[in-house]
Amino acid sequence: MSDKKPTPRQQLLGMITSYWTSQSIHVAAKLKLADLVKDAPKTAAELAQSTGTHPQALFRLLRALSSVEIFREDEQGRFHLTPMAECLLDVHGSQRAVAIMMGDEHYASWGELLYSVQTGKPGFDHLYKKPVFDWLSEHTEQAKIFDAAMTGFHGSETQAMIDAYDYAGVNTVVDIGGGNGTVLAAVLKRHPTIKGILYDLPGVIERAKKNLADQGLTSRVQTIAGSFFESAPPGGDTYQMRHIIHDWTDEQCHTILTHIRKVIPKDGRLLVIEMVIKPKNEPQLAKWLDLNMLVLPGGRERTETEYRDMYAKAGFRLERVVPTPTEVSVIEGRPV
Ligand SMILES: C[S@@+](CC[C@H](N)C(=O)[O-])C[C@H]1O[C@@H](n2cnc3c(N)ncnc32)[C@H](O)[C@@H]1O
Repeated sequence: MSDKKPTPRQQLLGMITSYWTSQSIHVAAKLKLADLVKDAPKTAAELAQSTGTHPQALFRLLRALSSVEIFREDEQGRFHLTPMAECLLDVHGSQRAVAIMMGDEHYASWGELLYSVQTGKPGFDHLYKKPVFDWLSEHTEQAKIFDAAMTGFHGSETQAMIDAYDYAGVNTVVDIGGGNGTVLAAVLKRHPTIKGILYDLPGVIERAKKNLADQGLTSRVQTIAGSFFESAPPGGDTYQMRHIIHDWTDEQCHTILTHIRKVIPKDGRLLVIEMVIKPKNEPQLAKWLDLNMLVLPGGRERTETEYRDMYAKAGFRLERVVPTPTEVSVIEGRPV
């Protein structure tokens, strides 16, 4: 391979066609190709048999993926696992669910990006005729994939967040929109005296109970089903939300924060865990996730100033922004 820097034209072409790669990864994830070659390499014909696919077409998919080191083909035409393919294995925290989710509803919604840019409204709603979280509550399989994708996509942030943020003095953490409970579980495991309350929509809470039980945390976590647009549960001194605020408009965020403000004690803490948008031209994943928020739930990523304003309007003071080694920061607020 040449080590010459690509020309602007080549760079752009690479970006224009990058969905070829992402869709190919998506199909490999759906077909569990990584799992099928985990114990022993296999030919495309063997893999086609186990996956019920077209041998030649599957070979072409694997050949293309092997050209970017996702799988490797040997002299006998057998495909092997590579470090990247290993990330597609069907195991907790892997990228498999992320690849499946991104290639299904997310990919379809990004196809509506022009609509979103023209109207400021979510492409998802335009296509599926309802908001994404309503849709997920009616689609159990996709909802399970969504939960797992959250762990896969944001999983590395969890340890980084609890390493960076000092939970000293905290008694009860209420995780608002806590999903399958992964973040809350990590906090509780790190701090054995802290108790937790997990709050999310009814279907999600049912799935979370199993996850918490599997981790031996049932006795330390109260699970409460409800909507953060209706209320927030009392009983905590720390209210945390990871990747909740970025899902919603400023008005909707104001409603969520106002409900928390009603129940949080005077000396309580609000912890919003999100990416904070950096100025102007700096490259940052958050600027792309921001577009994902535009086309899917209709939310946005925000700057520190925007968080400060949002907090102030809901009766909180932005105390500090604690960075982590990952893309997210902990945006700490205190009631005023
Ligand atoms: C992007 S996920 C984040 C999940 C989790 N906090 C994490 O970091 O992995 C958004 C979560 O908000 C929940 N959610 C959406 N609408 C909600 C509502 N009205 N009330 C409570 N939770 C809601 C979803 O079910 C989902 O678990």
